[in-house]
Amino acid sequence: MIALGSDHAGFPLKEEIKKYLDNVNVKYKDYGCYSPERFDYAIAAQKACDAVVNGDCDRALLFCGTGIGISMAANKVKGIRAAACSDYFSAKYTRAHNDANCLCLGARVVGAGLAQELVDVFLHTEFEGGRHQTRIDQIAEIENGNKLY
Ligand code: RB5
Repeated sequence: MIALGSDHAGFPLKEEIKKYLDNVNVKYKDYGCYSPERFDYAIAAQKACDAVVNGDCDRALLFCGTGIGISMAANKVKGIRAAACSDYFSAKYTRAHNDANCLCLGARVVGAGLAQELVDVFLHTEFEGGRHQTRIDQIAEIENGNKLY
């Protein structure tokens, strides 16, 4: 199950990606927003990311104008590793090396076609573990208020 969330700027791209997920039979829950009316991205980020952290969903796909504001909000949720991506390589390796559980896309940055490719590679790339797990553990230590140095 994939959690979706957006602000008003990301709303049209979220709707495009819902059509794509329907076509490829990927199940999702939409945590808003539900119209192009002004809606603040932090609210959608927190709702969708809480669903990932509490186990209702496996990963989140978030959308705002740049993908950046909503990624900043998402990364404040403990246990979330969110990446704002606008190229294929980053969307792939944020899974392979960072075990990202949240992909953030900018509706004013990428078109629907590229967004579909980014979502596809994000959903189908496995985390490589190994030396990368050590680094993920270090990120968690920072999150827990511990010093790495
Ligand atoms: C909304 O106008 C815009 O600021 C927002 O969607 C996003 O781009 C922020 O990072």
